[in-house]
Amino acid sequence: MTATIDLAGADHALKAKHRAMWALGDYPAVAADLIAELGTTLVAACDVGSGDRVLDIAAGSGNAAIPAALTGASVVASDLTPELFEAGRAEAAVRGADLEWVQADAEALPFADGEFDTVLSCVGIMFAPHHRASADELVRVCRPGGTIGLLSWTPEGFIGQLFATMRPYAPPPPPGAQPPPLWGNEQHVRALLGNRVTDFTARRATVTVDRFRAPQEWRDYFKATYGPTIAVYRGLAEDPARAAILDRDLAQLAERHDHGAATTVMDWEYLLVTARKRT
Ligand SMILES: C[S@@+](CC[C@H](N)C(=O)[O-])C[C@H]1O[C@@H](n2cnc3c(N)ncnc32)[C@H](O)[C@@H]1O
Repeated sequence: MTATIDLAGADHALKAKHRAMWALGDYPAVAADLIAELGTTLVAACDVGSGDRVLDIAAGSGNAAIPAALTGASVVASDLTPELFEAGRAEAAVRGADLEWVQADAEALPFADGEFDTVLSCVGIMFAPHHRASADELVRVCRPGGTIGLLSWTPEGFIGQLFATMRPYAPPPPPGAQPPPLWGNEQHVRALLGNRVTDFTARRATVTVDRFRAPQEWRDYFKATYGPTIAVYRGLAEDPARAAILDRDLAQLAERHDHGAATTVMDWEYLLVTARKRT
C-alpha cells in the first residue's frame, strides 16, 4: 500500500499553528516599543507616495502599512494572524490613517496579478515557511515596473541569533519549511527574485534597542510578549531545568550584543532590499 500525504492538510495545520503562535503575547507592543522605525524606513526606501496602491505582506499591526497610508497611498495590510488587526486598527485611528486589513497567507495571496504599485514586507514575509512560494506571490501581485521592498532580520544579527539560540529547544520544523532569517541573506533573496526584477539593491543596517536596563530584562520582556519565544517556553513547561538553561542562553545572547554602559543597548541587524518588477 502506498502512503499518501495530505500536503494541503499539513500546510493548513502548519499555518494554523503559526497563526496561533503570532497571536500569543503582545506582538503589537513589540512592534511599537522596539522596531517602529523599521516601518517608516521601509516605506521611505520604497518611495511610497500619494495615490500609490500598496500591499504590506505579513503586516502584523501595521508597522509599515500605517506609515504607508499616512503618505496618502491606498494601502492593504495583509497578515495570517487577524488577531493583530485590532491593535492595528486602533493605532491607525489614533494616527489618522485609513487602510484596509485583509487576512491572507503570504504563500497564497487573494489578490490579482499586478494589482499593486508597491509590494513590501517588514520582518514579515520571512516568517512564511516556503520561501519560493511566497516570493512567487509577492512578484505576481506587483505590477510590471512596480516596486518591491523587503526588510528582513539577518542570520548573523540579533534576531537571527535569537532563532538560532531557540532552535535546539523547539520541535524540529516540518519537512520543507525554511529558516526565516535566510531572507536576510542577500544571495538568497537575489535567487528567489531572480530575473523577474531589475534595479536590485541590498544594504545592511541596524535598529538600536535601548529600552532595557539589563539583558535579563530584555529576555523576560520577550518571554512575555514575543510569540515565537513564548511558544518555545510553552514546549518546555514540563522541563523546568531545560527552561532554566534557555533562560541563561537568552541572557547570554543579549549580553554578547550589549554595548551599553549603564543600561543595555543593542543594535539589531537587518537587510533592506529594494527591486523593480521587470516590465
Ligand atoms: C515579526 S511580525 C512582523 C509584523 C509587521 N510587519 C511588523 O513590522 O511589525 C511577523 C508577522 O508575520 C506574520 N506571518 C507569519 N506567517 C505568515 C504567513 N504565512 N502569511 C502571512 N503572514 C504571516 C505573522 O502573523 C506576524 O504578523
